[in-house]
Amino acid sequence: MSETGKPINRIDGRMKVSGKATYSAEFNQPNMVYAFPVRATIAKGKIASIDDVAAKKEPGVLAVISYKNALKLKPLDMQAQMKAGAAFLGENLPPLQTNVVQYPGQFIAVVVAETYEQARAAAYKLKVRYTAEKAAVDLKTEIPNSKKPKMFMGEEAQVNEGKTAAPFAAASQKVDHTYSTPAEHHHPMEPHATIAVWDGTDKLTLYDATQGVGLTGTIAAYFLGLKPENVHVIAPFVGGGFGSKGLWLHTLMVAMAAKAVGRPVKLALTRQMMQTNVGHRAATIQKVALGTDAAGKLSMIRHHTATYNNLTQFFEPSGKQSLVLYQAPVREVTYNIAHLDRSTPTFMRAPGESPGTFALECAMDEMAYKLKVDPIEFRITNHTTKDPMKGHDFSSEFLIDCYRIGAEKFGWSARNMEPRQNRNGKYLVGYGMATATYPGGRSAASVKVAMNAKGDVTVMTASIDIGTGTYTVLAQTAADALGVPVDRIDVKIGDSSLPPAPLAGGSQTTASIHPAAMEACVLLRKELAALAIADPDSKLNGRKPEEIGYGDGKLFVTGDDKKTDSYLNILSRAKRSEIEACATTLPVSGAGLTVPSALCTPSQTPPEQNSDIKQYAFHSFGAQFAEVWVDEDFGTIRVKRFTSVQDVGRIMNEKTARSQIIGGVIFGIGAALMEATEYDKRWGNPVTRTLADYHVPVHLDVPPIDVHFIGKPDPHISPIGARGIGEIGITGVSAAIANAVFNATGKRLRDLPLTPEKFM
Ligand code: MOS
Repeated sequence: MSETGKPINRIDGRMKVSGKATYSAEFNQPNMVYAFPVRATIAKGKIASIDDVAAKKEPGVLAVISYKNALKLKPLDMQAQMKAGAAFLGENLPPLQTNVVQYPGQFIAVVVAETYEQARAAAYKLKVRYTAEKAAVDLKTEIPNSKKPKMFMGEEAQVNEGKTAAPFAAASQKVDHTYSTPAEHHHPMEPHATIAVWDGTDKLTLYDATQGVGLTGTIAAYFLGLKPENVHVIAPFVGGGFGSKGLWLHTLMVAMAAKAVGRPVKLALTRQMMQTNVGHRAATIQKVALGTDAAGKLSMIRHHTATYNNLTQFFEPSGKQSLVLYQAPVREVTYNIAHLDRSTPTFMRAPGESPGTFALECAMDEMAYKLKVDPIEFRITNHTTKDPMKGHDFSSEFLIDCYRIGAEKFGWSARNMEPRQNRNGKYLVGYGMATATYPGGRSAASVKVAMNAKGDVTVMTASIDIGTGTYTVLAQTAADALGVPVDRIDVKIGDSSLPPAPLAGGSQTTASIHPAAMEACVLLRKELAALAIADPDSKLNGRKPEEIGYGDGKLFVTGDDKKTDSYLNILSRAKRSEIEACATTLPVSGAGLTVPSALCTPSQTPPEQNSDIKQYAFHSFGAQFAEVWVDEDFGTIRVKRFTSVQDVGRIMNEKTARSQIIGGVIFGIGAALMEATEYDKRWGNPVTRTLADYHVPVHLDVPPIDVHFIGKPDPHISPIGARGIGEIGITGVSAAIANAVFNATGKRLRDLPLTPEKFM
């Protein structure tokens, strides 16, 4: 492999920076009109009346759609939805079907007009009266009414409840603290947007900012009562998602609106709507208890978590990493889920591990300090090479190397065990570290590869590039698997009519689609070889397929460099203008989120490949290191430098991989120091409504970030050996920073974000 791994620039980079990459809101249609939603101003209750007389008189208004006149959608039915592959609606609330309000900001109507400005102006003329009910708006208040769900996404949610009480009581050293994290919002650069175009009454095209064209099509088809093949979803470019770009109600509403007015309709969410209508990460309260024996070996890990949800089964699974990291004879993880009448939480970058590693990895630091052991040595003492719950070996695991390499690159040996020992002028300087981890998921995927008579190659799959580098990395894999240069390869993704691929979520895209891309290239070469072998004019004529090698746009007889035949000549002599091959690959049943429908042709049964979860546990690991400078007078914290060492299997492109980790670390700096969605305690509505008051790191907040990869291919996840890389970068970051703040100041701050007033 010569292209795989190289830090080549994004093949779509020039298109993106020159404005030539087309995003969902930019697919303007002839005769298109605009929709603007109206949001509920109460948290809970009913719409008593909607007076749309004034709104309808506004210039350009074509329709005012509410529960009174909206298209009837298929009702919620989890079993039927699961069967149809339509379970992952962002919130269980088909839009505009009833007068019930279940959170502030819920879409209750949509106004359609000739222009965006007209739709927006008219939307504010709608007079809505409500019968409000008392709403649950505060997590702490609602915890006594919380529930303990049995399952989370097919796994037991409550693990060993109560079983750590005795070992904790018997432990020689103990820590037991409560950590909390706030609600956070994804805020991708590109706000959500949809353009809906109907062709007759039963065919729909959606240009939709989504992380999964297949998923969006399937769910939209279900609720609109269409055949899945009649919904075409297009998203060639997506400006970030981080979990927020599943299918939310605006996508269904715009399809309903387009049907109502008989014209294409565009709906682009405002930044304010992105606070209430496309999910968020729920706040968590986490109690972590650790016990060790006299030698510093963990005897138990306990992680009790509380959070909330609303119109979803999903909840922030912040105990996940506590079932994966470290040796401990017994561990307990529980979830208490309160109900809040607040916009619906969802997956957000490293759902679970992001807040969960904050709690566990701070507790680990607290224990190491108590034991007077270096935090890295404490982790190494308690290192596990097996999944502690299942007992399976990790498929490939180099966490101790991550610690050691990170310590060396970062200069960890200069750290003082005792806090407040390192000053630079008025600043207290501290070093902190934490473990990173995220599961290595893989799903079924199909990829088609075509080569034309000029030797141009097209790689096609219904995958998505949410900014991660999917286009570029796919081109690299195909270049190697065919022996042609990267610049001869065109990648077509982001279109549901292409061979199916999983949604770009759960850090599974690379691990899933590259084995299929490689397999499709192998099939294509086999077809080319068969043509050459059968052709009396070919130097490969009469050879056995297994003798044929490839490279430089040619096939050749292995070991005889005179016996070659180029792809172009083979195709030309065979009078073929194009040749194509499609392959589906899937992990052994049960691994990752399998998508059995991902087949090139429905009759085909693809071979299962590697990823045997009965034998191995698939996880990525890493080590995060932070240096912070704390100004105690003002309580301000600066992250001065950051080192991240990641064990994520084969690196497919050193540059895009590094960018993913840098992005994750910046996300983690935001979570550590500034990000928090604040809600009005009276009404439950978010008061941080824009990027002016929801603070994210800006350039001055971001230090040099030094990224290193172990780079050893995972021999068990797939023949490619790459695990996902999108989410692990954020994990452990806020803990590394909080641990560094303790090392600087001697203060343990256990409530994120670490804003200045918390030093008071
Ligand atoms: Mo990610 S939260 O699975 O998009």
